[in-house]
Order: sequence, then C-alpha cells, then structure tokens
Amino acid sequence: MGIEHSEYRKRRQQIMEKVGSGTAIFRSAPMAVMHNDVEYAYRQDSSFYYLTGFNEPEAVAVFAPHHEEHQYILFVQPKDPEKETWTGYRCGVEAAKEIYGADEAYPINELNEKLPQYLINADRIYYHLGSDRHFNDVVLSHWQSTLRRYQKFGKAPLALEDSRQLIFPMRLVKSPTEIAMMRKATKISAMAHNRAREFTRPGVYEYQIQAEIEHIFRKEGGIGIAYPSIVASGANACVLHYIENNRQVEENDLVLIDAGCSYDYYNGDITRTFPASGKFTPEQKAIYEIVLEAQLKAIEEVQPGKPYNEFHDMAVCVIVQGLLDLGLLKGDLEEIIKEEKYKPFYMHRTGHWLGLDVHDVGTYKHNEETWQSLQPGHILTVEPGIYISPHIKPAEGQPEISDRWKGIGVRIEDDLLVTATGHDILTADVPKSVADMET
Ligand code: GLY
Ligand code: MN
Ligand code: MN
Repeated sequence: MGIEHSEYRKRRQQIMEKVGSGTAIFRSAPMAVMHNDVEYAYRQDSSFYYLTGFNEPEAVAVFAPHHEEHQYILFVQPKDPEKETWTGYRCGVEAAKEIYGADEAYPINELNEKLPQYLINADRIYYHLGSDRHFNDVVLSHWQSTLRRYQKFGKAPLALEDSRQLIFPMRLVKSPTEIAMMRKATKISAMAHNRAREFTRPGVYEYQIQAEIEHIFRKEGGIGIAYPSIVASGANACVLHYIENNRQVEENDLVLIDAGCSYDYYNGDITRTFPASGKFTPEQKAIYEIVLEAQLKAIEEVQPGKPYNEFHDMAVCVIVQGLLDLGLLKGDLEEIIKEEKYKPFYMHRTGHWLGLDVHDVGTYKHNEETWQSLQPGHILTVEPGIYISPHIKPAEGQPEISDRWKGIGVRIEDDLLVTATGHDILTADVPKSVADMET
C-alpha cells in the first residue's frame, strides 16, 4: 500500500495549473542533528513529499509550466558509492527522471547554474520563506538577479508569493488513497491504545506504557511516532504536552494517553483517559462524563457544510454547563463563554486538521469573520478536555477549587473523516464509554 506515482503526477498537474505563468520552488526538509555528528532519522517536508514522493534531503523541486522543455525539474544529491556506504542509498539524477517522473534532473550542486533558466520568463515566483535561512537566501538572491533583467527586457518575475496558497487547499482535501493511508495510521494507533489500556495497572511506569504503544506502532508497519507520546498519570495529565513519561502510576490515578502512529508519513492522533485501577473516583467520573458528553456532542457537529468553529463552540458549551452543574464555575453560561472564564479548565481548541502533518495545513478561516466550512475529504481531530491543575487559578469572580478536584486531567480525542453524508470516526475501535474505561 502506498501512494502510486500516477497520483503524484496528478497532484503535479494540479499544481502546474495554479502556477500558470509563474515558477514554484519547493525545498526538501533539512537533516536534523541529534547530537554532534549523529542525525535524527530523516523526515521529509510534507509538501515536498506530497508533490514528489521523493524522500531524500538536499533536494529542490521546481515547477515551471511555461518553460518550453521542462516543466518539472528535480535537483537531487548525485549518486556517490563512497558516501552511500556511510549515509545510505541515494536515488541519483537518472532515477529522479525515470522513477520520480522529472522532465529534467540535476545534481544539487548545479542549482545556482541551472535554476535561472526556469525563472527568467516567469511572471512571479512561488516560494515559502521557511526556517532554512540559507536556502531562503539562495532563492532571494536568484530573484534579485532575475529582477535586474526587468529594465532591459521589460519582463521579470516581479512578485514573490507564498506557495502555501497553492498547496494548502490541495492537501486539506484528502484523496481516496490518502484516506486509505489515514485509515491504516489510525488503525495502528487504535490498536496501540487498546493494548496500553490492557497493560496499565497501578505500579507500572509511564514509560513502560509508552513502550507498549510504540512497540505496536513499529510492529504493525508504522514508521514510528506521529509526535512524542504523552503518557500522563495523575496530575501530569494537566500538563498538555507532558512527555517525560517517568512517573510510577498510582492506585487512584487517571492515566491520559495521547499517542499516534505515523504510517508512510500519514498520522493518527488519539487520546484516551482511564482509571489505572479500573474504577473512577466520583470526582474523576464526574469530570470524565462532562468531557465525554462534550466530545460526543461536538462530533455530531462534524457535518459537511458546517462551519469549522461549530464543533468547538459546542464542546465549550457542554463543558461550561457541566462545570456550572458541579459548582466549579458560577454565573451565566453565555457570559462565562463570552468572557472566556472557563479557560483555566479548558485552554486549547477542540481540534485541528490532520494528515501528513499532525497539525495539518489548511486555513481555518476564509477571512476575519468567515470560517472554513467542512467538506468531504477533510480529516480533523475532535479533542475536548478538562484540566484541573494543582496550580489552577480560577478566573476573576469564580470560586476557589477544593483540593478533591485538583490533579484531574481528562482529554478524549478521535480522528474524523468528513463524508458526503456526515462523518466517519476513524478511531472508533478505541472504546471510551465510562463502562469500557472501567473494565
Ligand atoms: N497530540 C497533539 C495534539 O493532540 O494536538
Ligand atoms: Mn493528540
Ligand atoms: Mn490532536
């Protein structure tokens, strides 16, 4: 299973239409250093991968639809048997054409010499100024040189535009093959969560639970974690990005696990929270029930045509009502929401796009007032939570929190595909009812 070359070709045709009389430049991700001369496993830039399927560093893809001879050009590391002995296989210039479909390919060290021919007749350059400062400078200096031609020839790429406008809308709507990849990533993620719940009991360490989860990710063919796994017992669950995972789980703890697997760069992102002992305390259960209701009601709002904000607004409404009922908030529901007085308990949004990036690309709004509306092929998370940190500071005028509530953190997160008629919960294999969490 994987994305076929024909699909990459289709994506390139689509982007060529948008690039029109311009030229677009996409850069591969850099190698990241772990320490000294040891590098992390390579992770390609998602947009670069989406357009090329090419998984090596030190590469540049150029789209120049107006060029007479070559419309898709790849710059890649040349083959070098001696270097490959140390750092692994390189596809090389010939395969960049034969396998990856480039009309022309060059060794990356010829970029400065070969790139200008693809820029001089373009009316604009599309490029995302990213964190690779060195390559930003390369693009800017080529743009500058090309602009010098304007006075003499009356023609040059006068604008530099961000390439995100080309690629975001494409990546936001997943193709049938991408959906299949997401089903695989979420299926493995779900298996790992089920194993983690079965394995967890008071006395185990958070890292042992993490090991069970990540063992399944690799064993089932995933390339690894989609993001650092969060295994947060007790009050650690109130730290949203807790990744130390070094505490021993205690008898009355809730355990919050937020972990997802990456499958050929497509990502799952699931959170479940359950009692280590198999039995909620009354306070834990009360909070859990609110979060579960918030999540179920928010999921109902995930429908084609609905504005993106509605599922979040629904989750906030249920959470605030639940906290009012428990006396943890007081006052008028609408006022609390308007003045965001619930934020000490619920400080993040209820979801995000999901795909090749865990926080995937795509705009959430069309403009200041108008939200993006959900469409078939969108994939997003729905992940409300309540966090009552030991250090919680209630909003002005709100009640102090009694110690019996402190240290409870609950989040429930599923991954949803928007369909023509509603939604499909890709992570439905992981139970979440109170009864299931207590077995
Ligand atoms: N695990 C990252 C997130 O839920 O957004
Ligand atoms: Mn998550
Ligand atoms: Mn998430």
